Amino acid sequence: MRFDVVSLFPGWVASVADWGITGRARDRGLLSLHGWDPRDYTHDRHRTVDDRPYGGGPGMVMKVDPLRQAIQAARHADPRPARVIYLSPQGRPLDQAGVQRLATLPRVILLAGRYEGIDERLIQLEVDEEWSIGDYVLSGGELAAMVLIDACARLLPGVLGDALSAAQDSFSQGLLDCPHYTRPEVVDGLAVPEVLLSGDHGRITGWRRKQALGRTWERRPDLLAQQELSEADCRLLEE
Ligand code: ADE
Repeated sequence: MRFDVVSLFPGWVASVADWGITGRARDRGLLSLHGWDPRDYTHDRHRTVDDRPYGGGPGMVMKVDPLRQAIQAARHADPRPARVIYLSPQGRPLDQAGVQRLATLPRVILLAGRYEGIDERLIQLEVDEEWSIGDYVLSGGELAAMVLIDACARLLPGVLGDALSAAQDSFSQGLLDCPHYTRPEVVDGLAVPEVLLSGDHGRITGWRRKQALGRTWERRPDLLAQQELSEADCRLLEE
């Protein structure tokens, strides 16, 4: 999967692939990141990318032209069509279903804004989708772009060691994840639940499902409300 990132700090966003799973994805040739700095598409001495807002008010707005030319340059750098995604607090809340769809695309151009925002006409002319990573305001879209890249990269076939890991993730089944344990068996008097030592895979699967349902019910009832519970799930919850 190829990501092109249009940002005033393209090297910062690209550094998401310097470590960990995203680094492994890049080293295996499954992920590539390319940065485009809108300042490289300005024509004045100060390399100006922003201007005062029409109508007045605080802050500055990113101008159409440098961003548009950077996006066009990114589009033409590869023959495959790209979806252009703008990261902003006004976007649709990013969720695992959204990430799963994006991870099937061969190419994505990410647009990270700064200042008060970008000129609305750039969004109308060039942007296909607008996503938010949560109801809080960052000082720019770069961290949001890195979140999106990381979430997609770990779903690319061949990136995670165990293909089941992604399928069993929190949210991929619409529920929060169950608790996990590893050695030692007892830590400060806290023992690993007996069922996990039983070797009985049927019981273990049932226990994990029940934990996932219980946690989701306690912590995220909004997620549970969207689920159709099977009869087996209802029996688990009655046990
Ligand atoms: N840019 C600033 N805040 C953001 C957010 N919450 N999500 C995505 N992009 C942003």
